[in-house]
Amino acid sequence: CGIVGIVGREPVAGRLVDALKRLEYRGYDSAGVATIDHGKLDRRRAEGKLFNLEKVLDQNPLSGKIGIAHTRWATHGAPTESNAHPHFVGNVAIVHNGIIENFAELKEELIAGGAVFSSQTDTEVVAQLVAREIASGKPKRDAVQSVLKRLTGAYALALIFADEPDTIMAARSGPPLAVGYGKGEMYMGSDAIALSPFTNEISYLHDGDWAILTAGKVEIMDFDGNPVERPKQISAATAYVVDKGNHRHFMEKEIYEQPEVISHALGHYVDFGSTKVRDLPGSIDFAAIDRLAISACGTAYLAGLVSKYWFERLARLPVEIDVASEFRYREMPLSKNGAALFISQSGETADTLASLRYCKQEGLKIGAVVNVKESTIARESDAVFPILAGPEIGVASTKAFTCQLTALAALAIGAARQRGTMSEADEIAAVKHLIEMPRIMSAVLNSIQPQVETLARELSKCKDVLYLGRGTSYPLAMEGALKLKEISYIHAEGYAAGELKHGPIALIDEEMPVIVIAPHDRFFEKTVSNMQEVAARGGRIVFITDAKGAAASTLETMATIVLPEVDEIISPMIYSLPVQLIAYHTAVIMGTDVDQPRNLAKSVTVE
Ligand code: G6P
Repeated sequence: CGIVGIVGREPVAGRLVDALKRLEYRGYDSAGVATIDHGKLDRRRAEGKLFNLEKVLDQNPLSGKIGIAHTRWATHGAPTESNAHPHFVGNVAIVHNGIIENFAELKEELIAGGAVFSSQTDTEVVAQLVAREIASGKPKRDAVQSVLKRLTGAYALALIFADEPDTIMAARSGPPLAVGYGKGEMYMGSDAIALSPFTNEISYLHDGDWAILTAGKVEIMDFDGNPVERPKQISAATAYVVDKGNHRHFMEKEIYEQPEVISHALGHYVDFGSTKVRDLPGSIDFAAIDRLAISACGTAYLAGLVSKYWFERLARLPVEIDVASEFRYREMPLSKNGAALFISQSGETADTLASLRYCKQEGLKIGAVVNVKESTIARESDAVFPILAGPEIGVASTKAFTCQLTALAALAIGAARQRGTMSEADEIAAVKHLIEMPRIMSAVLNSIQPQVETLARELSKCKDVLYLGRGTSYPLAMEGALKLKEISYIHAEGYAAGELKHGPIALIDEEMPVIVIAPHDRFFEKTVSNMQEVAARGGRIVFITDAKGAAASTLETMATIVLPEVDEIISPMIYSLPVQLIAYHTAVIMGTDVDQPRNLAKSVTVE
């Protein structure tokens, strides 16, 4: 979810909705805005995307000069209008991002005291508690402070009060929250990007902080209510809204942008003159560590899984990798001589952040591979490795994935150099391959689309699709399946090709396509054997390979997509392109909402 608030001089509803548009990546199940006008709270809420809320506001505008707003990714309670934020209890209005973990017991206590609830959300509990404290005679600031002390879980929240129409109170415990300073106006929101049209002067609240905003002043307090100073910074987030250019969807634009953004990432990590990786100041000393722990979620996790192959093979560095939601609770023994790497496009994913904090507590050196440099994960890391993909709007990650891979490949080569496991000649050769990547990507993007579209028409008729790969093509098979299921809603699984015989082979019939990702590399023969096993059972094969691979196999396929022959170090990035385009075109044919698929959010700030 994303939240925003303005203490303004003019009516604020329009600007609140503009800010919500920048926060839509955090969820788009429902949205709402509340303002105070002539001493009364008023709100508009709507199920679904923000344009529904805009329509409601067009028909029935709000004119208050102070307000709070919310875009929701449902946790407790269905995404209906009555569960949409802001929630009102008497004179108190609230918006909330996160989860109040002890809401059930608090709700029971409130109901026992006679409170009547109008939603199923955990959020309303907070408003009820605040209203009860105020009713018992406490000043608002004391009421809010005492309620914050009773909440467990992760939250960023904002409150306004009908009888105090010049004040917003905001609090942070977990998800990020920034306050913005204006002239005679103040702002607060989930990130700097939301506030970028209003101001670039911002402060981030620390965990446990809360703040009181009035038109002329922002007071920030710590958990115990002591005034604290949080540095004012000039945010680099721009008010510029990215558009789709000539493309139908952001996802398509982002797929086609990859040659360009990968050049930017390469410029940061490699020196084109010496064709070696750069020594990055403040980086991790890979020679001094004996283990690397990697954790991330979703597509970022799969980028991490590819990099495990690189760090282990090139740098002889053992890697532990896990999805962050498992990593954080696994209580694994961490080497004190180790480092930990967290990969996250947004830099805000709650599970990834929690894993980071766990490793930090254990005394490990922390590195972050992020797209958003101002993010919480970046701010809490010792070394930040930007992927320079530019804003990624499509919920299904594409260019961020290949830029993550590019940064990770360079880091693995750098680690190999530091650890003395890669010769200078091998480093130069590997970097030359990286440098060739944008050109090869352009060529692939310009050539495969018609074939992929034809294939997508077939895939759109299927209920299930299996992806297979070996080596670094195995995480890519999982990424292919993830992409397809998240945007086309077709069930898909990615398997290590060698695991086929241990289970998924039972699914093979004439109906289910099996997409085999197999460049002509060290594993090729083995993967082709697995493909034979599919063919022998009448399975339909989609073969993604290169000219050598295509020539080496005589099997009949549903489609064979032939890519240029490339070195192993760049094959995951090059083979990402057909994988992304297959998912994209299948989704377009299915008519789904490609950029904002159902039930998903781009950045998930709850566990
Ligand atoms: C969400 C998105 C995924 C993304 C994952 C991790 O689930 O829908 O596309 O891979 O979060 O996000 P992050 O911002 O940490 O890379």
